[in-house]
Amino acid sequence: MAEELIITAKDKGGIYAQILPQIEAVVSAETDMIANMANVSAILKEAFGFWWVGFYIVKPTGSSDTSHVEEELVLGPFQGPLACTRIKKGRGVCGTAWAKEETIIVPDVEQFPGHIACSSLSRSEIVVPVFASDGSVMAVLDIDSEHLATFDVTDKEWLERMLHEINFGNK
Ligand code: SME
Repeated sequence: MAEELIITAKDKGGIYAQILPQIEAVVSAETDMIANMANVSAILKEAFGFWWVGFYIVKPTGSSDTSHVEEELVLGPFQGPLACTRIKKGRGVCGTAWAKEETIIVPDVEQFPGHIACSSLSRSEIVVPVFASDGSVMAVLDIDSEHLATFDVTDKEWLERMLHEINFGNK
């Protein structure tokens, strides 16, 4: 396994193209979901210098009512400042991406109704669902930027491809 990331490209698409095989090499050598999410967060943070990169994982709420199991997003491996720990389905950008089962790009977080401000310095964000092999959403990848309009269709396509190619295991 390569111990250091090699990045020579300067443009966004070129950087994604260079890190994708390196991410695949790292995660294919390991089956633990948390270890792989931790390294994916670290690689994206190192490659792009994003403000915050991390995963929220779909988990049971732990409610004592056993008649039906409710789920929520719980903070997983991340790189960056302290973040909120639990997000309900449909809430914020992360909970909306989970509910809609699709990537959401937010060019200006102040214009997104219900955005959850974990950090006042976050200005734009992208959230990409991670699908389990049964087709359900098992986690979301959240990336925040301290600049407006950082993310576009290039990020969406590369991140979706990256997460599709990684087997994080099932819920
Ligand atoms: N802004 C996110 C919450 C997570 S933090 O940004 C790390 C949201 O609205 O879902």
